[in-house]
Amino acid sequence: MIRSIIRSTGRYVPDNHVTNHDLIEIIDTTNEWIVQRTGIEARYWVKEGDDVGTSDLALNAAKIALERASWNPEELDLIVFATMTPDVNVPGSGTILQDKLGAKYVSAIDIRQQCTGFLYGLEICDAYICSRKAKKILLVGAEYQSRHLEKTTANRDTAIIFADGAGAVCIEALETEEEVGFITSILHADGNFSDALKFGLPAKKSGKVITKSIVENKEHFPYMDGKSVFIQAITRLPKLGEALLQKAMMSIEDIDMVVPHQANLRINEAFRERMKIPKEKMYNNIQRYGNTTAATIPIAFDELLEKQMVKSGDTIMFIGLGAGLTWGGVIYKII
Ligand code: UT7
Repeated sequence: MIRSIIRSTGRYVPDNHVTNHDLIEIIDTTNEWIVQRTGIEARYWVKEGDDVGTSDLALNAAKIALERASWNPEELDLIVFATMTPDVNVPGSGTILQDKLGAKYVSAIDIRQQCTGFLYGLEICDAYICSRKAKKILLVGAEYQSRHLEKTTANRDTAIIFADGAGAVCIEALETEEEVGFITSILHADGNFSDALKFGLPAKKSGKVITKSIVENKEHFPYMDGKSVFIQAITRLPKLGEALLQKAMMSIEDIDMVVPHQANLRINEAFRERMKIPKEKMYNNIQRYGNTTAATIPIAFDELLEKQMVKSGDTIMFIGLGAGLTWGGVIYKII
């Protein structure tokens, strides 16, 4: 039987470390508010003026993952790039990364599934592998969100949460009779909530790309109805978690580690309590990274492997919800 295996991982964040105390200088907020409401203590933002794009963050993470897999970029069959902040609107960052890696003629696709980009990406990679269309795939989740943020009190909800970073995984086809690698997944979308978290530019329903009113209404900055997204997350994620376990014919005791999307520590705590997951079986790092959207899960998984907090034979649940709405989960067994 053919299975999708994560052969290696890598992560990268820019050097510029921004603490809550740094934000107090520019936004009417407090360290206590941010920590209590989100769990975030610090994040990394590309230094203003630095000449980098999202693909550069991805490149650094990808190089580490490729080196750990001992793969030459030209060996790849596919690059899947999950981001909501591509270098430019067209072409996709996947093709830009392909060129920077020197992965000559390797096909590359971008996916725009925001916080669940990595989960949708895993599903796509597994489909390519199981249909024998690819054997070696590079999947990255990368965001350069700080350049889009309105770093003022008026939009402090988004300014304190979103951050920059990249995570990459090398996914390989493996012939085996063992039930390892990608076990199962569930993905959902509900466009009825598309207005709850959105970023208007460069597309605009009216067809006008930039008008005076867009700038006046600040549609060029991300907009988030935090309360609405929060409520959706704490109600939908436990239902999804249960459904995922049922689909995999597992119980929560069979899961060795939960790696949730890092949007808000309170969301993850609510999920953990509802699912009766012991504290040591859930990994959070939002405290140090903020919300790096498509990059949160691969960054966290890379850290877990590095710290040897997960090992061969462990079963992992990846889960998350974000803009779209999209939400989903994957069960994965480490080879
Ligand atoms: O990954 C993408 C998916 N996104 C999410 O999952 C985000 C989900 N939502 C959230 O994480 C939370 O809703 C936020 C962290 C964004 C906001 O937390 P909240 O507990 O929902 O706060 P709130 O928006 O209801 O605001 C409560 C109060 C308000 O003041 P009043 O009206 O009670 O006087 C806000 O003006 O806190 C105020 N406030 C702040 N105060 C200090 C909002 N943002 C800040 C801030 N610093 N940064």
